[in-house]
Amino acid sequence: MQQKIILSGVQPTGNLHLGNYLGAIRNWVGLQAKNQCYFTVVDLHAITVWQDPKHLQQQTREIAAAFIAAGIDVHQHPVFNQSQVEAHARLAWILSCIARVGWLNRMIQFREKAGKDRENVSVGLLTYPTLMAADILLYQATHVPVGEDQKQHIELTRDIAQKFNNDFGISYFTMPEPMINGPATRVMSLRDGTKKMSKSDPSDYSRINLLDTTDLIQDKIRKAKTDMYPIPDPGILDNNGQFTSDLKDTRPEVVNLLNIYSAVANQPLHLVMNEFAGREFSFFKNRLTDLLVHHLTPIQKKMSDLLNDRNNLDTILRDGVEKARKTANKTLHDVHKIVGFIETGYKNF
Ligand code: TYM
Repeated sequence: MQQKIILSGVQPTGNLHLGNYLGAIRNWVGLQAKNQCYFTVVDLHAITVWQDPKHLQQQTREIAAAFIAAGIDVHQHPVFNQSQVEAHARLAWILSCIARVGWLNRMIQFREKAGKDRENVSVGLLTYPTLMAADILLYQATHVPVGEDQKQHIELTRDIAQKFNNDFGISYFTMPEPMINGPATRVMSLRDGTKKMSKSDPSDYSRINLLDTTDLIQDKIRKAKTDMYPIPDPGILDNNGQFTSDLKDTRPEVVNLLNIYSAVANQPLHLVMNEFAGREFSFFKNRLTDLLVHHLTPIQKKMSDLLNDRNNLDTILRDGVEKARKTANKTLHDVHKIVGFIETGYKNF
C-alpha cells in the first residue's frame, strides 16, 4: 500500500470540544503508523475574526498540547503553528489569484459566519479557504482527515488545485481526498441535536470541552436534551448498522448521544444499543458520563503537564516548524518557478 500524505489542522479559537476531538484529532492518531503526517494549529485562520492576543497564545499552546496528549508522535510527524511557516501565507496569496470570488461566496461556513453582516466581516473570512488550500497543497497532501463540516473546503481545494494545473498547463498539485470517517463526523450540540457542537455556541452547556472537570461533564450530560422515550432497540438501525434519517429527524438528541458513546467506547452502535435498549435515559447518561471521564482524564493530565512546561512545548513547535518548512518551501519554490517569479535573494530554500 502506498504511503499517504496526511495534513490536518485545528483553529486556536474558543474551547477545544468533543466534536473536534472525535471528529478529527482522535482519528489522526491511527493514521501515524503507516503515513507521513503534518498537524498544524492554524493561528492565521483564527485571526479572521478578532482574537485577544494573550488568549490566542494560550489557545495555540493548548491545542498543540491536545494533539500530543491525544497521541500524536511529534518525533515522526511535525506539529507546528501555521503562522511560523511563512510559505502558508505566501502560497495563499498566489492561490487567491487562482480562486474565483463566486466560489468563495458559496462557502457555507462563510455564509454562516458572516450572516447578515457580510459587508462588515474581514476580507480574511472570505478568502479563508484559499489559505486552507495552501495548507493542504504545500505538503502535496493526499488525504485530509476532518469532520463533515470541512468537506466543502476540501472540495474547493481540489477546484483550486485543478485550475492552477490547467492555467499553467502542468500537472503539479496533488488532488487531496477528504477523510471523513467513523461515528462522530458531525457531533451535535447537547442542547439541540439539530445544531453542530461548536466552539462559538454561546451556551457552554451545548458542548463538552476537553478540559471540563468531572463535575462539569456530569452536569452537562445530566442536563443534555433528550426525549421521554427509552433507548431504542438496535433493530431500528439500517442494513449498515447506522441510524436511519427518519430517526435522525425524529430523535436527533438520542442519535447524537448514542453516536458519542459509540465513538468514545470504540464500539459499533448495535452493541451499544444492545446494552442500553429499553433503559431510561438517566441510566444511560450515568454510564456515558463515566465513559467520558474515564477517557478524558488521562488526556487532561497529559495536557496539563505539557502546558506546565512551556519551554518544552515551544521547543516541540519550533522543531515542527523547522521540519514543515523544508517541505513547504520546496513546494513554494516550485510554484514560484511555475508562476514566473524570479527568486532574487530569497535564501530560505
Ligand atoms: P475547526 O478548528 O473548526 O475544527 C477542527 C476539526 O474539528 C472538526 N469538527 C467537528 N467534527 C465533528 N463534529 C463537530 N461538531 C465538529 N466541529 C469541528 C472539524 O471538521 C475539523 O476537522 N478550517 C478548519 C481548520 C483548517 C484545516 C486546514 C483543516 C485550516 N486549514 C487544513 C484541515 C486541513 C477549521 O476551521 O476547523
